[in-house]
Amino acid sequence: MKFPIVAYGDPVLRRKATAIEPDEYPHIKALVENMFETMYGAHGVGLAAPQVGLSMRLFVIDAGTFAEDEPSLKDFKKAFINAKILEESGEEWPFNEGCLSIPDIREDVYRKKTLKISYYDENWKHYEETYDGMAARIIQHEYDHIEGKLFTDKLSPLRRRLIEKKLNDISKGVVDVDYKMKFPAVKKGR
Ligand code: NI
Repeated sequence: MKFPIVAYGDPVLRRKATAIEPDEYPHIKALVENMFETMYGAHGVGLAAPQVGLSMRLFVIDAGTFAEDEPSLKDFKKAFINAKILEESGEEWPFNEGCLSIPDIREDVYRKKTLKISYYDENWKHYEETYDGMAARIIQHEYDHIEGKLFTDKLSPLRRRLIEKKLNDISKGVVDVDYKMKFPAVKKGR
């Protein structure tokens, strides 16, 4: 089942998401599956639960499309539950990022090269791992989502001003997009 993806401007994208208790959420595997389906349907490489309207500390990533540049990413398909970034290090480097909640906008974002993260997978197996390069980049972007942050927060005031109208348009649904979205500034029944 595909979810509609929540667009820029929805308050759920600004909330710090809450941790998931295994007992409180027995259907986590089905949710993870649906999130992957939603992400693939929108040609994304990552999707966080707040982007489908759920303020939960969960995100999914499939970085396989970057395998040409980074062969180690070929089988990088994972769900991250209750993730916690323990450490970030290395030089900051720019990459032109996009976001399924902010269609049609891409901007250079600087992030640190390496991170150490603790998380659970959908079987509640615990991991503590180190990532760098593109894997770290995607994790950082998705992790920001469960912290209520968006990549546009990281832009210079000038860049932000330049895209402000476009962001407002996205909230109102004035954007060309080929996947199902939920726009916060569109009144029901329109
Ligand atoms: Ni995003």
